[in-house]
Amino acid sequence: MLDAMARNRFGRLYYMWPDKRAAAAVKYCRNTVQEYVDRALAYRRAQDKTPECLEKAEKDSRKEEKGHYVFLHELAKQISDPVRIRDETLSVLFAGRDTTAGLLSGLWYELARNADVWRKLLAEVDELDGELPTYEVLRNMKFLKYCVSEALRLHPPVPILSKVAIRDTVLPLGGGPDGKAPLFVQKDSILVYSIYSMHRRKDIWGDDAADFRPERWADPGLRPGWAFLPFGGGPRVCLGQQYALTETYYVTIRIMQHFRKIENRDHKPWMEKLSVTCCSWNGVQVGLSKA
Ligand code: HEM
Repeated sequence: MLDAMARNRFGRLYYMWPDKRAAAAVKYCRNTVQEYVDRALAYRRAQDKTPECLEKAEKDSRKEEKGHYVFLHELAKQISDPVRIRDETLSVLFAGRDTTAGLLSGLWYELARNADVWRKLLAEVDELDGELPTYEVLRNMKFLKYCVSEALRLHPPVPILSKVAIRDTVLPLGGGPDGKAPLFVQKDSILVYSIYSMHRRKDIWGDDAADFRPERWADPGLRPGWAFLPFGGGPRVCLGQQYALTETYYVTIRIMQHFRKIENRDHKPWMEKLSVTCCSWNGVQVGLSKA
């Protein structure tokens, strides 16, 4: 784990930290998605052929898609380079899987340790009377939203971000001994910033910055703006934000509709497992029961 982290921190000089396991892991991941790349290419080849082939491909794909949007097919319509298809596929899988799992684990880690929050959330979930939550219902579950925002604040699944300056520029703050002067950034510099630290700053969040307190989000005076960036911001903001939140709300509600009681089965303090994403080192060990 340490090796993988150090290699990541080396940035463009990562090759100076050789790691055989990394090469094997990359190979494994690429082989895993190859089947999907082949499918995308077959779909594209069929499209490129005669009108009859095209008609058949459309028919087959309609059958397969059943009216759904199929990412792989859309990708294949636009891209023919297999390496690019592979990398685009991998990046969506990486971006969407461990992040959402990390958010759910951060949230459930806290729910198991905060009985009052669990009770309050249960009361909100009970208002659904056991019904499946619709998208509209999810949008109106205020306390659930507060809990998820608080989990994203304390345990951001992407704890560190970086950007490369595409031209010489000046940032309004960050320079000088107190960090309040403008800061010159040279073209091609890599800027690395810690979302994790920013989300725990007492000057932004108050003295209880380290506590899990979803109620803080009910305060209309709390307007963190660019100080709360679990999904990044700007032109490269996370594309899956709404998807990830909907999934997290839905899974949480459905579990809570089945189980009334939660018990923490792991009394170790929070420790990060840090790679590109971050989650709990010890996993999240909770006991759930119906009554
Ligand atoms: C809780 C879950 C998630 C978190 C915390 C998260 C966080 C992030 C962050 C911090 C970025 C970088 C933004 C930046 O550079 O400013 C990002 C980018 C991205 N995310 Fe997510 N993400 C989550 C779920 C998802 C899901 C479910 C998907 C897709 C199904 C997804 C797709 C992407 C993509 C494609 C990008 C790259 C966007 C670009 O570079 O233009 N993410 N995400």
